[in-house]
Amino acid sequence: MSKVLGLSKRISRLDYPIRKYNALARSLEEKGEKVIYLNIGDPLKYDFQTPRELIEEAYRAMLENHNYYASSEGVRELQEAIAYKEKVWNGVEVESRNVLVTSGVSEGINALFAALVDDGEKVLIPDPSYPLYINFADFYNANKVFYPLVEEEGWVPDTDRLRRLVDNNVKFIVVNNPHNPTGAVYPVKTIKEILDIAAEWDIPVVSDEIYDALTFEGEFVSTARVASKDNVVIGLNGFSKTFLATGWRLGYVYLKGPEEKVSQIRSAILAFLMTRLSAVTPLQVALARFARRKPLFLEEVRRKMDERRRFTFKRLNEIPGFRLPVAPAGAFYAFPRVEANMSDEEFARRLLLEEKVFVVYGSGFGPVGAGHVRLVFLPPLEVLEEAFNRIERFMRRIQRTS
Ligand SMILES: Cc1ncc(COP(=O)(O)O)c(C=O)c1O
Repeated sequence: MSKVLGLSKRISRLDYPIRKYNALARSLEEKGEKVIYLNIGDPLKYDFQTPRELIEEAYRAMLENHNYYASSEGVRELQEAIAYKEKVWNGVEVESRNVLVTSGVSEGINALFAALVDDGEKVLIPDPSYPLYINFADFYNANKVFYPLVEEEGWVPDTDRLRRLVDNNVKFIVVNNPHNPTGAVYPVKTIKEILDIAAEWDIPVVSDEIYDALTFEGEFVSTARVASKDNVVIGLNGFSKTFLATGWRLGYVYLKGPEEKVSQIRSAILAFLMTRLSAVTPLQVALARFARRKPLFLEEVRRKMDERRRFTFKRLNEIPGFRLPVAPAGAFYAFPRVEANMSDEEFARRLLLEEKVFVVYGSGFGPVGAGHVRLVFLPPLEVLEEAFNRIERFMRRIQRTS
């Protein structure tokens, strides 16, 4: 008998819904099928390109031999450029030493849990939520407590419910604005209410703002901009989405609040970041030079995404059984409710198998996500049109047979 490998219990708790059916999609493609990928939030997979000037800066940085390990907190010029960018883009004043460069926001989330959360301690996360918050809570054996977002109100947090869920055992409250998977952009009133609750209980707010410049309706307001002097805000942001550089794997954590608390959190996160030595150096140098420039490329990016967003909102609501009461205001996702005689996971799997359209099942984002699917509106209009036609055909078929 072969020896059973001793895999960790920790690893069995990881389940990343966005990529779960990749192997199935690939096997369909190997059979010659044309799969339309609406599952992954990567503009580079469609007709968006990393700004040419940024790529040229990367080449120059490598030729200049910035190919060494950087310091674990990041290349100093990039820490400074990020502080500058936060001020210009979001009106957030942060000291450059309180900016830590990470290998994507993904690593920032991992670092936060590693640094701040012990077994059984509570973290408050939105429901639905970007799955990494669920994954790392499970991985680190945290007690994840979901606070609901309200669909009828455009998926804004129910702050009364949130307030009732807080106690002394909560380590931080996660806010994600603009929000993945719903595309909600939060009113400033909601952000302030959450900040007030956090200040009352003396707990940090983790604010993931990776889609900050991708807002099409309403006004995006950064959490750190409206925080009081008693709040601790742990900002998460990066270059994947707004700089169209998902594959560069660069993001950052910044800290704002009373100095003694900020310095403790900073040291704890840095202790984790030291174990991976540094984030990729030449690309940090390139971004340090590029991030201070006016992001002129963003105007065209937003125009294209907005056109696709409007089309998606209109077309989805024409499909029988699909319901999207409020158009996504930011990011590049729609999270419609789907009426079908099966679970949302079964729905997504069958849609992929039968019509070769790859969406993510909503319950992968938390219990409130059940009965929904997430799809990206990044592809060109003609690809979206084809995808929605296939989805409509699928819906008509399952409604006939149920
Ligand atoms: C809300 C949110 N946070 C973090 C990430 C991870 O981004 P990164 O590429 O910086 O690791 C994503 C990616 O989709 C996201 O949607």
